[in-house]
Amino acid sequence: MSSPSPDMPGLPTDEHIFFRSAGSVNPVIDRADGIYCYDITGKRYIDGMGGVGVVSIGHNVPEIREAAVRQMEKVSFAHPFHWKNQPHMELTERIARFAPPGMTKIFMCSGGSEATETALKLVRQYHVERGKPSKYKVVSRWSSFHGNTLGSLSMTGMRSRRELFAPLLKDMPHIAACNCYHCPFGRSYPECGLPCATDLEAMILREGPENIAAFIAEPIVGAAGGALTAPPEYFKIIREICDRHEILMIVDEVITGFGRTGKNFGISHWGVVPDIICTGKGLSSGYSPLGAVIVKEKVFEPFRMGRGFSHGYTFGGNPLSCAVGSAVLKYIEDHRLVERVAQLGQYFFEKAQELYELDMVGDIRGKGFFMGIEFVADKKTRRPFPAGLNVAGRIGDACFTNGLIVGAGKGGIDGVNGDHVNLAPPFISGEEDLDEIIALMRKSILDVRQALTV
Ligand SMILES: Cc1ncc(COP(=O)(O)O)c(C=O)c1O
Repeated sequence: MSSPSPDMPGLPTDEHIFFRSAGSVNPVIDRADGIYCYDITGKRYIDGMGGVGVVSIGHNVPEIREAAVRQMEKVSFAHPFHWKNQPHMELTERIARFAPPGMTKIFMCSGGSEATETALKLVRQYHVERGKPSKYKVVSRWSSFHGNTLGSLSMTGMRSRRELFAPLLKDMPHIAACNCYHCPFGRSYPECGLPCATDLEAMILREGPENIAAFIAEPIVGAAGGALTAPPEYFKIIREICDRHEILMIVDEVITGFGRTGKNFGISHWGVVPDIICTGKGLSSGYSPLGAVIVKEKVFEPFRMGRGFSHGYTFGGNPLSCAVGSAVLKYIEDHRLVERVAQLGQYFFEKAQELYELDMVGDIRGKGFFMGIEFVADKKTRRPFPAGLNVAGRIGDACFTNGLIVGAGKGGIDGVNGDHVNLAPPFISGEEDLDEIIALMRKSILDVRQALTV
């Protein structure tokens, strides 16, 4: 059963919505502006999660609206079968300037799952074109999320999202997560020797390098782990292993891309250049569905010489979406928002340290404006709460009631246990906004703590 629509004259019913979660009881949004969303009763919420890690430049920015209208007045749809279009050219130019050196070829799509699905097919065809047709498997990690389509879900390591569809998924190898707070190998950094990274080589040798096309990872894990952040050596070791076995390195920057972590792309914190970057979300700041796969020159080469890429979407390179994406990237550049996130991100994390005073707060991690907070029943032993208590879900709900939107998640430790919330505020947030976010977070944790003890 869906919730009754609030008693507002003229409001449509929600009866015909096939809700993602049964009986959604969410309020109806009316409008959004800057870092705030407002429901139809006028209640204000801080968009502390930028929607779901999407809203980068803030809501209701006039420049984006104007760019969309300008483009609609010219042409909104033109398919690459028949046309090149200028917004597509302009946006890909901008993305190439934004991307790490040498990553100059951009395949446009409409979202994150389309981007990772595209990468999966791209690495497969890349190896076929190079005369290595047995290479098709993509190694990924447990506690990861790469999307909900079947290819991207096959690479995903998030148990709760995979379970129901397991019979439909391809058998892709998964290695352990990089989770220093709950090391899957029971070790401690830095003495550990990073088995979470070297395990990739063991997996490759087990599966046979001749069968492995690529490795995929999020630079900072999003929904599946609460901003799990690898130590400095991690991605260098991964890069070397990939190179040794002719395996392409894909990073999934659907959340971490376009400035969210205080660098253009998250992977740059590790001083590594991947072969392929998958992006989405912040690329358009949510003003239009948009995703992109950014590819190194050398990966594009076999496609240039051969039959082209045997893949594509109706809305890939859509003029309207590309015009919106271009306007968003221009806004990020003009307002130096990546530099701003780098600077204020430090403040955000300093401020968040005060949450450690609360007995449930076990770990705070991430970079820039992407933060994960993990809750534990026992700080000393890092013991999680029983999964059935749904602690993160309750904290997420308390935040919402208190006027703060966050991303609550569970299962980050082993697929079942572990409670975290993610924060990903818009890049335009100032110190006072960040203070308010942390204050509301504290209040919400205390609200739940109280409810748990009665
Ligand atoms: C890291 C990552 N990859 C892929 C996706 C899938 O993106 P979309 O929901 O736009 O298909 C998400 C979405 O949350 C994500 O966080």
